[in-house]
Amino acid sequence: MEKVGLTTATSTAAASARTRERMSRRKNLAGLCAIAAVCIVVLYASQRYTANNYSTEYFRPRERTANQRILNSHNKYYGSRSYGGSSGTSYDSYPSVHNSSISIEDVLNYQRVLIEASFDERSFAGEKLKDLTPETDGRPRRSIIITTWRSGSTFLGDILNALPGNYYHYEPLLDFDIVQIRGPPNDSVALHNLRHLLRCNYNEMENYLDFGRTHNYLFSHNTRLWQQCLRFPQFCYDPKFLGPFCQLFPLQSMKVVRLRAALVEPLLEDESLNVRVVLLIRDPRGSLQSRRHRVWCPEHPDCYDPVTVCDDMQRDYEAAIHLSERFPKRFLVIRYEDLSLDTYGKTKEILDFYGLPFHPEVKAFLDTHTTQDIGGVSSTYRDSKSAPFHWTKELSFDYVQKVQESCVAAMRSWGYRNATSERELYDDFNPLLKYRFS
Ligand SMILES: *[C@@H]1O[C@H](CO)[C@@H](O)[C@H](O)[C@H]1NC(C)=O
Ligand SMILES: *[C@@H]1O[C@H](CO)[C@@H](O)[C@H](O)[C@H]1NC(C)=O
Ligand SMILES: *[C@@H]1O[C@H](CO)[C@@H](O)[C@H](O)[C@H]1NC(C)=O
Repeated sequence: MEKVGLTTATSTAAASARTRERMSRRKNLAGLCAIAAVCIVVLYASQRYTANNYSTEYFRPRERTANQRILNSHNKYYGSRSYGGSSGTSYDSYPSVHNSSISIEDVLNYQRVLIEASFDERSFAGEKLKDLTPETDGRPRRSIIITTWRSGSTFLGDILNALPGNYYHYEPLLDFDIVQIRGPPNDSVALHNLRHLLRCNYNEMENYLDFGRTHNYLFSHNTRLWQQCLRFPQFCYDPKFLGPFCQLFPLQSMKVVRLRAALVEPLLEDESLNVRVVLLIRDPRGSLQSRRHRVWCPEHPDCYDPVTVCDDMQRDYEAAIHLSERFPKRFLVIRYEDLSLDTYGKTKEILDFYGLPFHPEVKAFLDTHTTQDIGGVSSTYRDSKSAPFHWTKELSFDYVQKVQESCVAAMRSWGYRNATSERELYDDFNPLLKYRFS
């Protein structure tokens, strides 16, 4: 429009129009700069609070003595996005009371109301809330996901955390560094910590809590807890708060990447715990490819050496045969690839295993998750389906062969097909075969 005006204007008018144009460009530029600056500040702030979503199964451990190591652990962070925390816990609606006069009891009462409001007996096969919450001597549903690094457990953990009334013990063995726990002597400390957390007992967990004080991601995945921690940091790491807070929740879920499957047997044996275990498996070529991009992994053989990784997988297979025979109703295996190809179907199967219906909040989470990354239409859904298979495009055939040589037994057991040529690999390779326990 301005240009059209210029053609008919006098030269003075033209000059002043040009000046105006320049000024308005300058204004636009200044506006853009201001917007960019605001974005940077917001991004920076949100990253400080959230750490990076699906990329951080890790922390850099502090120096600590063997003694200190005895009492705990954790892992990762969380995102401030609303999924998984959408269970009616908008803390903006927190009653306006003077912060200084708020007690632990007030926060507990508030959370209790939130849980009651979101609780629906139909969601728990007709069970009453008081029969499920530890604070009323009820028996909560307890779930443990056993898996290893970069195998889709953050995704599966967040699916379960979308259930109203879930309290999420996120990666409680973080303290153990990048290692696998396969047996004595370290298993006893690990199991001590898992039992304590599953029972909402935060005593004798000093190291775990100390770790959390300096690493937000320890609690931030636990969205319902984290919302109160952001508001009342003075209570966040206090066992006198955490214990009773945890005991308000009818669902207790946990995911662990550092404990091999055979070691959960004592937890399954403990009838009073009433725990169910999902073993989450992923193609070693996929998990190893994904680990290449993590600075914390390659120096640790438990994470990065194909022989070690696949020995663990094969041992998990043997444990799975045994555990599924012994606890057919309380032990389930899921492959990450199957979960990704049929997210809704597999999620229903997992919820069924817990005796829970496919809750609308879970559906909402899946709807969001499978469409958010690309911000687009159905293409995102396809993208989430292809995520577990990126390795076929990114690994060299030499490396694929190296993994296949190291993983003969594990790949046979878990139903992963060899790629026999570079051409086959790059041409929409389907690595999945049927697998079974016998
Ligand atoms: C596990 O136990 C071994 C043997 O005592 C010890 O050397 C190692 O540091 C322990 N690992 C962890 C992660 O605590
Ligand atoms: C409440 O008070 C504590 C300590 O006095 C402070 O750290 C926290 O940020 C306050 N919370 C809010 C929401 O003002
Ligand atoms: C897969 O490839 C490896 C390495 O070449 C080989 O040792 C193994 O026998 C193959 N497995 C099957 C089932 O063909």
